[in-house]
Formats: sequence, C-alpha cells, structure tokens
Amino acid sequence: MQETLFPLLAAVCGYLIGSLSFAVIVSRAMGLSDPRSYGSGNPGATNVLRSGNKKAAVLTLVFDALKGFIPVLLVKLYGERFGLDEGTAALVGLGAFLGHLWPVFFKFEGGKGVATALGVILALNWELGLATLATWLAVAYFSRYSSLAAIVAAALAPVYEMLVWDSPPTAGVLVVMALLLVWRHQGNIKKLMAGTESKIGQKAGASA
Ligand code: G3P
Repeated sequence: MQETLFPLLAAVCGYLIGSLSFAVIVSRAMGLSDPRSYGSGNPGATNVLRSGNKKAAVLTLVFDALKGFIPVLLVKLYGERFGLDEGTAALVGLGAFLGHLWPVFFKFEGGKGVATALGVILALNWELGLATLATWLAVAYFSRYSSLAAIVAAALAPVYEMLVWDSPPTAGVLVVMALLLVWRHQGNIKKLMAGTESKIGQKAGASA
C-alpha cells in the first residue's frame, strides 16, 4: 500500500508546488502588469522580461526553476526513509513540470515549463542539467530566440541522458517533458517559421 501511496503523494506535492505560477506572483508582488496580458501572454520569465523589468524576470526564472529543483532534491536526499527511489524523484519532477503547465491555483492556465524543466533536470542529474543549460545558452546567444533555445535544449536533454547516463526513469520523464514543452511552443514555432518571433529582451509591443 505505502509503496504506491507515498510516491503518489510525493508526485501530488510536486504538482502543487509546480502550480505556483511565479511570473504572476512576482509581477503582482512588484506591482507590474499580469504577464498574461502582454507580449506572448505566457506566464514565464521571457515574457516578464518584455515588461522591461529585468529584476522581475530574473526572480521569475529563479523561482520557477527552484520549484522544480527543490522537490526533486528533497526526494533524492530524504526519500529513502519513505521508500522513495530515483523513479519517484523523476515522477515528482514531472509533477512540478505539469503543475507549471496546468496550475491548479491559476485556473490551469500555465506556462511552457522551460525554467521548471531546467530545475528538475539539474536536481535529477546536475551534469545533465549543466549540459542542457549550456545548450540553451549557446542557442540563445547565437539566435537571440528564447523559444528556439528552449526547444533545442529540451529535445537534446533526453539524447544526452540516453547517450551518457542511461537512467530509464530520468530518460522517460525527459522525453515526456520535451514532448509537452515543444507542444506548448507551437505558437512560437509558427512565428519562428514566419520570421515574426520576438527576440530576447525585445519589449512588449515592439515589432519582431
Ligand atoms: O520560456 C518560454 C520561452 O521559451 C518562450 O516564451 O514568451 O516567447 O512565448 P515566449
């Protein structure tokens, strides 16, 4: 009984923590407009940056990443006492990611999951996390497109995992997160192909 109940409870806790939409929370706390009302409308750090407030964007990025990182790390550090293994850590990370996409506290209208996925990956395997972050940074540096960097990094993370570390629970969760993340970026992909996607740091309302 406990073998199923504890992992399930842990995953639900991950989902609830992931449901804290920090783009909205930080913006409200700092007296800024709701990020769902300007730019891409996405409650995420990239869109908060379009408000022109770099501090709010950095705080959103850090908190959205931490909500993926901390639950997974807690399971890895203390999970054994409750019979929670590596598979549960990966499941809890997936829960946090799903919470960000469909937050129970925000009418299930969430973001695209980039920062949260990074936090989850860093906690599951910090070397893989750094490789994924480096991929994001390289693509973002050369293209100036946050969305393109996220899509490429998310797609390559499971490939890195399978080629170098080969942990089935982590690889499984990475594949699910990558598929959902790319699916969430459908609008960005269309804009990238049309040449109308806005670049990093471009203010809301400015043309691409
Ligand atoms: O972090 C999400 C990013 O990849 C795209 O965001 O606001 O340009 O749709 P946005």
